[in-house]
Amino acid sequence: MPKGFKIAINMGGGDAPGLNAVLEAVVRSAANRNWEVYGIKNSYEGLIDTNEIISLTPKKVWHISSIGGAFLGTTNKANPFSMPVANAAGEIEYRDVSDKVVENFKRLRLDCLIAVGGDGSLKIAYDLFKKGIPVIGVPKTIDNDLVSTNITFGFDTAVSIATEAIDRLHSTAKSHDRVMVVEVMGRNAGWIALNSGISGSADVIVIPEIPFDIDRICDHIMDRELHGQRYAIVVAAEGAAPIGGHTLNKGKGEAGRQDVILGGIAEYVAREIAIKTSKDSRFMVLGHLQRGGSPTTFDRLLALRFGAAALRLVKEKKFGTMVALESPNIKAIPLEEIIGKIKRVPLDGDTIRTAREIGICFGD
Ligand code: F6P
Repeated sequence: MPKGFKIAINMGGGDAPGLNAVLEAVVRSAANRNWEVYGIKNSYEGLIDTNEIISLTPKKVWHISSIGGAFLGTTNKANPFSMPVANAAGEIEYRDVSDKVVENFKRLRLDCLIAVGGDGSLKIAYDLFKKGIPVIGVPKTIDNDLVSTNITFGFDTAVSIATEAIDRLHSTAKSHDRVMVVEVMGRNAGWIALNSGISGSADVIVIPEIPFDIDRICDHIMDRELHGQRYAIVVAAEGAAPIGGHTLNKGKGEAGRQDVILGGIAEYVAREIAIKTSKDSRFMVLGHLQRGGSPTTFDRLLALRFGAAALRLVKEKKFGTMVALESPNIKAIPLEEIIGKIKRVPLDGDTIRTAREIGICFGD
């Protein structure tokens, strides 16, 4: 690639600790090759109407790897293939403005796009690749639900925050002989709940992969009580549901959002436990705390490695692929292989086995 080769980078979907580390690695690796980097603001918005594109130099991004959030801004409402636009009557209509993105990309003389995102944003990146934009994907999500990569950055930070919260709930639950139910994120995969629940010595973990029977959970709690433990900690993945029931949600949220906002399972479980066991039960929703603040060292390093590897793929012209961790190496995976798939917790895996062997109940 010639000197002055122009790389664009954007961040899409919910933020995840480590996003800034990817950006730092991309900008610094590009500078070492005499390439230029331009940051597109707010996912694809900067390539649609706002023309918010900023030139980035190593000085501007030095050590932002340690900072949480998204330096370029991010959104899960900017899908160029289905953008919400208010019509003359003030109603929201969805329009395909992807041609405009391609046009602006060419007008700005950008040479390739590094798209950092989860399943939704990587699907958009793949569709833009099919329209002629040379794309390299970088997988990101705290949910760890992307296939073909051992892990995504943001996940370790989310699990650490959830584990610390569970640790803290033990003492207050114990003081009051209460059942505390904590709801964690993860969408339709139970990775955060499982890893934090085991690490935080939860009594019960409910995850989307294992529909639960509330009576089993209550029996487990009462059995523990008979053996002298009068308090209990339940970790509930936001996507978990009872046998024969459905996932709880808070509706679609803002216009342009592709998915529903999950939530409500901890409240449901706490209420049912209180009714069925007469134990004092409380719930808490950990929410966006799991995405806030600095990335752990693990996430920071993984994100820096992903960023540097993305630039290697640019050099090798492996467009239409995504960087992925296949420990101990970083590999290139065709984007089409990961689109529309979700990595769920394997029920025969070692982590579920460990949980069962140390006496954690899944309500099944
Ligand atoms: O995908 C990441 C995630 O944090 C999910 O775990 C959660 O369901 C969702 O995003 C929350 O989205 P928002 O930030 O739009 O409320």
